Amino acid sequence: MTAPRKLFIKTYGCQMNVYDSERMAEALGASGYVTTERPEEADMILLNTCHIREKASEKVFSELGRLKPLKAANPDLKIGVAGCVAQAEGAEILRRAPLVDLVVGPQTYHRLPAMEAEIRKGNRALDTDFPTEDKFDNLPKTRAKRGPTAFLTVQEGCDKFCAFCVVPYTRGAEVSRPATRLLAEARDLADRGVREITLLGQNVNAYHGAGPDGDWSLARLIRGLARIDGLARIRYTTSHPNDMTDDLIEAHGLEPKLMPYLHLPVQSGSDRILKAMNRKHTADQYLGLIDRLRAARPDLLLSGDFIVGFPGESDADFEATMDLVRAVGYGQAYSFKYSARPGTPAADRPQLSAAVLDERLQRLQALLSEQQRAAQEAMVGHEVGVLFEKPGRMPGQMVGKSDHLHAVHVAGADLQPGAIRRVRITGSASHSLAGALA
Ligand code: 5AD
Ligand code: SF4
Repeated sequence: MTAPRKLFIKTYGCQMNVYDSERMAEALGASGYVTTERPEEADMILLNTCHIREKASEKVFSELGRLKPLKAANPDLKIGVAGCVAQAEGAEILRRAPLVDLVVGPQTYHRLPAMEAEIRKGNRALDTDFPTEDKFDNLPKTRAKRGPTAFLTVQEGCDKFCAFCVVPYTRGAEVSRPATRLLAEARDLADRGVREITLLGQNVNAYHGAGPDGDWSLARLIRGLARIDGLARIRYTTSHPNDMTDDLIEAHGLEPKLMPYLHLPVQSGSDRILKAMNRKHTADQYLGLIDRLRAARPDLLLSGDFIVGFPGESDADFEATMDLVRAVGYGQAYSFKYSARPGTPAADRPQLSAAVLDERLQRLQALLSEQQRAAQEAMVGHEVGVLFEKPGRMPGQMVGKSDHLHAVHVAGADLQPGAIRRVRITGSASHSLAGALA
């Protein structure tokens, strides 16, 4: 028997790419590949790319440049580009980077085994279709044991067309997967050891998929998933404020398996900028939504995304964002300098200077870090649920995630990964909490 070929995947960007990378590894598993953490021993290297911000394509080309010595050392090494840069650049990648053997978009990676056979013959392969068949229905099944947490993509693409964003172009129109399929997949994950599932979608709360008794919303899907034995925790990301329906808000109060953490990006606190971004809601509407969510689930920890320096953003607009952040009190957040993405409406508008973007990002991040620190410190003295995932760096230590998604480490915990325990939080460090079994 020949030794299995080795596959190294480097994943950029969002959790949906993490999910896709796992599926690509499974797809190539059927062609005899096992994954490796070491690129230098790989027979195939896949870059699963992200196109959301900055000079994404240029970064991919320079990363490809860095792979040249590996290809020189092993002429049989195959190199592929997957994900959103592959979708956006397509044949341009094959033209500019002669060492690339394969380019595959986010909707066609179920065809990887056939593409792999093609490139082993010495040909190059390119597939960036939006196919009619569902890639998830066409991926090989595996029974391999899983860790305690898993992602499950329930919805892909986006119809919102925020003026800054490439997603509607790279990932295409909003498509939801059938709820019946998702229930079956979630049951299978639970059977394989998964205790927490994070439902993924670019606009996950726009989810509407065929269930056993008609169309299911995300809230209905969460209720269905909550009935699965062994599955203890459910999360979902990323949401749009305009799709935060009554039943979903209610679910945060009624469904104990739905964890008290919500990533709900607002991008800006200025109505003028929100309008220019095509967000179709105001700052007050967002704040009203937060009030309703907190009424349903008072300990809800909120996370958000912010863009500073969107074209036309004045000092007053930026201050409105700072005010909104102060009004909400985020437990966690991501903030970015606006980056013009070719092909999006805002890319052609007059841009602000780099100095303004730097200064605003620094001020916003200082405020958000302060809020994150305060949210962590507020946990000290309280009891939370923790799902333990792996041993920590210290002997006898276990680390896991709290209900609120804080990393928690517990010393002298004689526990297996997958165990869920009540933990009393005893201290807060920069990016984690310390606790003791309650
Ligand atoms: N510039 C800066 N940030 C962006 N995001 C999306 N597109 C851009 C862009 N062109 C941010 C948004 C989004 C997150 C995933 O990335 O905040 O919510
Ligand atoms: Fe991009 Fe806006 Fe769609 Fe989110 S909602 S994926 S930011 S277009």
